[in-house]
Amino acid sequence: MSTTTVRVPAKVNLCLGVGPMRADGYHPLATVYQAVDLHDEVRATARDDGAILVAVHTDNRSELALVPEDDDNLAVRAARVLRDHAGVSAGVDLAIRKVIPVAGGMAGGSANAAAALVACNDAWGTGLTRAELEPLATTLGSDVPFLLHGGNAVGGGRGEMISPVLARGSYHWVFAIAAEGLSTTAVYAEFDRINAGHDVPDPVVPDALLAALRAGDAEALGLALSNDLTEAALSLRPELEETLDIGIEAGALGATLSGSGPTAMFLASGEQHSLDISFALSSAAACADVVQSRGPVSGARII
Ligand code: C5P
Repeated sequence: MSTTTVRVPAKVNLCLGVGPMRADGYHPLATVYQAVDLHDEVRATARDDGAILVAVHTDNRSELALVPEDDDNLAVRAARVLRDHAGVSAGVDLAIRKVIPVAGGMAGGSANAAAALVACNDAWGTGLTRAELEPLATTLGSDVPFLLHGGNAVGGGRGEMISPVLARGSYHWVFAIAAEGLSTTAVYAEFDRINAGHDVPDPVVPDALLAALRAGDAEALGLALSNDLTEAALSLRPELEETLDIGIEAGALGATLSGSGPTAMFLASGEQHSLDISFALSSAAACADVVQSRGPVSGARII
């Protein structure tokens, strides 16, 4: 039976502009994604009997309880979407090795969906191109198209409309991982609650951020990091404020939350600076783990 393994990165949002809720319940976004060196792996082994099954492996037992091992798993949904689209009768065993924090604002579930599309496309021999996989990715979640793509990209629409961005440089990140994840839906609902009765402007990507990326200027990028979901996430998790403050006091070039949180992200000037920030963050009460990482990296790839 044909087996394919795909490695897929996490994402951060260098900026996350959020507009007023649309009629379909989603929010218009103006974001710049960066794929970072924190990877899950999805292995797809084709089956004759048509069943689509998933097993999730992680060293973190409390996270395991949060990842469904049934048809609600996004990787299973991705396999179904591809099978229906391509008219395949085979099934698949999906084995997911999780490193990306679950419900951490780093698109771990979306990453698994992107990886499953690429892995099943190969294991079943359906032969779709990346461009042909993209519309399927869009139906699975707002971040899934970016995770096929990787690198840096501007995200518009509800995040699913990816366009290239001129970018230079490789960046050192430190991530403060919280013990307990946050529901993306709950953070957007809190955003709506906080902004009820206010005029929420249409979101834009700040020029300063695009200029920093074009120049490969880490200091300028640090100053330009922004996230419109911060207030909502901090309202649900006030203790994250201390985590952000500790990283800033440790000299981070910039600090914000990743996506809807609760992962906090800190930009460092190099390896030693990353170590210094990591060491300082280990004293933060809301920080269960600290991870050093680099970005950008490529999207879902067969290994
Ligand atoms: O697209 P995805 O399924 O990953 O989104 C998860 C949830 O996050 C949505 O159900 C919605 O509540 C919220 N969301 C949103 N606006 C976006 C993206 C996500 O309101 N642009």
